[in-house]
Amino acid sequence: MSSPRALRGRLLDFTDDPAKAGASALRYIEDGILVMDGGRITARGPASGILPTLGDMPIDDHSGRLILPGFIDLHIHFPQSRVIAAFGTQLMDWLERYTFPEESRLADPAIARAMAAFFLDELLANGTTTAVVYGTVHAGATDEFFAESAARDTRMIAGKSMMDRNAPDFLRDTAQSSYEEVKGLIGRWHGRGRQHYVVTPRFAITSTDEQLEACATLLREHPDVYLQTHLSENDREIAFVREIYPWAANYADVYRRFGLMGPRSLFGHSIHLDDSEVAMLADSGSAAIFCPTSNTFLGSGLFDRDRLAAGGVRIGLATDVGGGTSYSMLATAGEAYKVLQLRRQTLRPLDAFHMMTRGNAEVLGLGDRIGTLDVGSDADVVVLDAGATPAMAHRMTAVDGDLEQELFVQMIMGDDRSVAATYVAGARAVRRR
Ligand code: GUN
Ligand code: ZN
Repeated sequence: MSSPRALRGRLLDFTDDPAKAGASALRYIEDGILVMDGGRITARGPASGILPTLGDMPIDDHSGRLILPGFIDLHIHFPQSRVIAAFGTQLMDWLERYTFPEESRLADPAIARAMAAFFLDELLANGTTTAVVYGTVHAGATDEFFAESAARDTRMIAGKSMMDRNAPDFLRDTAQSSYEEVKGLIGRWHGRGRQHYVVTPRFAITSTDEQLEACATLLREHPDVYLQTHLSENDREIAFVREIYPWAANYADVYRRFGLMGPRSLFGHSIHLDDSEVAMLADSGSAAIFCPTSNTFLGSGLFDRDRLAAGGVRIGLATDVGGGTSYSMLATAGEAYKVLQLRRQTLRPLDAFHMMTRGNAEVLGLGDRIGTLDVGSDADVVVLDAGATPAMAHRMTAVDGDLEQELFVQMIMGDDRSVAATYVAGARAVRRR
């Protein structure tokens, strides 16, 4: 457990969704103190009130910088850190040519451990303190991931990819073996400290009916684990799903009929949906996860946020590294803005910062633990410096104290360079490898 520590700076978080409640959803203290003890936030408020109560508690002085809840990334692949920036393909070729061969290396637990360590260090350097993570098909690689996360005390939600067809032999499990391996992983890791399990059939193409049934069984047997998969990302992918599930009304209907939709289910991409698929997501309380840098990089398509929101679908934001091109949730919000521009929609800075923090926490049903600076919440915090690069500092001279403009500069120009510090469960994160 971390020892007591206070942070001084500009405290910013959300008490509600600014898309619904407007600017009153924002909570901002220009000269604030955040007190962290035993991994939790124990006090917060104006420096004038809190400083006199601190005695000799150490204070990290971040005056002038923004202190926010740690960012939350709702879809990312830890084995793909060497797949980012793979040239020239769209989804199905990209999987075959670059991704599957790289994922096969994680059969070796030592490689998996090193990949997990690099990945977690990189997330923390980008201010991301919670992520929903795909592993490879290898159960042992997911054990290594959880072990590295537990060593850092990060709140991570991870699962081994289940895939028993339409993948190379060396990356295939079976319905039965995947069921047993996932049972084991849930038993070893789910609810241990800050680790959570997410049942992870890679996508409808790489699972048989038996494996999707096994996923439903796992969800019934463990109602508090999550489910994640990919949905309606790419035209060739969608055509392949139609071919192998001729009985299904559409792509989403495959997941629905196997009982995989619900309020703890996260569907990556969800780009090319028809109206009945939007209704299935909304009616089941499932979440659609917007992965903008991946969707532009792989040429997948433009996420239709307004249509899904109007249809009542819960929406989260994510990087999708390594189809995605940046670990930074700031850069991801910037790309989301550009995708929505092409749709003639918009992403206001308050909405973007809400999504990265409290919004994504609410999608996970973890709003009481992460995503805000509430007293009692986990002390996962990111500190942002708007003058991190010469170009940002120069741009900021035209901002004149306007907070929303500053946030917009961060999401358009910022990345790991603007992260001055990250705190995990009250302790400052340092790179381990
Ligand atoms: N669909 C199935 N697997 C993947 C993956 O690894 N990345 C992306 N972007 N889409 C997928
Ligand atoms: Zn993905």
